[in-house]
Amino acid sequence: MDSFSSMAISSIRANSEHEYMKRECQPKTWTGGLHRVLCMQGGDDDGSYAKNSEAPASAITLSKPLLLTAIQSMKLFVQSEEDSLRIADLGCATGYNTLATIDMVVEGLRERYIKECGVDPEFEAFFSDLPSNDFNSLFRSLATTLSNNKARRYYAAGVPGSFYSRLFPKGKLHVAVSLSALHWLSQIPEIVLDNRSPAWNKGRAWIDGAKKEVVEAYAKQSEEDLEDFLRCRKEEIVEGGVLFMLMGGRPGSQRPDNQLDDSDSRAKHPFTCSMDQAWEDLLNEGLIDEETRDGFNIPAYMRSTEEVERAIERCGGFEIQRMEYQRIVEHSKEKQDEWIRDPVSYGRAKANLVRATLRPIVEAHVGPYLSEELFKRFENRVSSDISLIHKTCFYGVIVVCAIRK
Ligand SMILES: C[S@@+](CC[C@H](N)C(=O)[O-])C[C@H]1O[C@@H](n2cnc3c(N)ncnc32)[C@H](O)[C@@H]1O
Repeated sequence: MDSFSSMAISSIRANSEHEYMKRECQPKTWTGGLHRVLCMQGGDDDGSYAKNSEAPASAITLSKPLLLTAIQSMKLFVQSEEDSLRIADLGCATGYNTLATIDMVVEGLRERYIKECGVDPEFEAFFSDLPSNDFNSLFRSLATTLSNNKARRYYAAGVPGSFYSRLFPKGKLHVAVSLSALHWLSQIPEIVLDNRSPAWNKGRAWIDGAKKEVVEAYAKQSEEDLEDFLRCRKEEIVEGGVLFMLMGGRPGSQRPDNQLDDSDSRAKHPFTCSMDQAWEDLLNEGLIDEETRDGFNIPAYMRSTEEVERAIERCGGFEIQRMEYQRIVEHSKEKQDEWIRDPVSYGRAKANLVRATLRPIVEAHVGPYLSEELFKRFENRVSSDISLIHKTCFYGVIVVCAIRK
């Protein structure tokens, strides 16, 4: 090929890449609401939620005794084998955690009914999440057998929709659980998306350490959302039924601009420093403009125990049986040792974690090409800051068990 043709080809390629980037770079509005976009990454590859849900799994393990106690002490409803018991997991995502939880609740209740009432009731399990959730992957994994080689003994159904609105008829549910999901807000507050407002979140993707106006807007959204959630569940859960919630949270006395457990956890959290640096890299490389960077916000809020208690009181209809703040260690010691030996694999693992949780909303903001560029910058930033690998960090969670009065 002569040099002229090769120059022409590379110029066409550069032009089409430029056009593609321009097209992809346009910030997109989440028309129709965040619930159309937000979901964990489906499937089962390295960037999927199913392969990146170690911290939620640890949270469930830690809160398991509380859930089992609730199951052991809840009112018994079924009198004959014709009646069924109905359990819902709200914000189920895909993968192991939801199945393990439903199995645990079903088996716990079955044993109680057989022992205390002499009946072996039928169970219905409702797996509920936003319509964008990968229900196909979830239903495929339903077919696998339990660890003790038994088949699952419940009738399963998927319920697409937001848990901030009604999902079931009145008095339908006996047990509703929601695990590691309620810290996701229904939307980014409008004033945070207005570049003329004092709540414009300049230079940050999230609210930890952000300006007062941004934090207050998120806190207000979080309050409205939790109250909506509780009002809907108050209608749907039968009297004596159980509502079990596990959500990202902070201790009662901690200010809302301090979303995380301590300074190391703050520095290492996937929504904070490395995420901001990755957006800054895209900006400095001329791939996005400042408004695109600042217009991206992560719709998560870690509530305090006080905020949760206040919302439950204001809603009425529930009695708090137990409420606890717990700290979840971010990763196992074995993983940490592995990463100390190989920091590049650490960067990859962290980038996969943010892909699993944020890819759909990053793609909605900047398109798939720039989304992947962002995750690559994030990976580089994380693997080049080796000092953080040695730090053990924590996620805070609030666990609440409430009985419908
Ligand atoms: C971190 S995952 C937790 C999944 C699972 N419960 C677990 O413990 O592994 C959070 C889930 O909450 C879902 N979610 C977020 N906001 C929601 C909403 N408004 N209504 C229903 N599900 C929601 C997300 O789609 C996601 O699947």
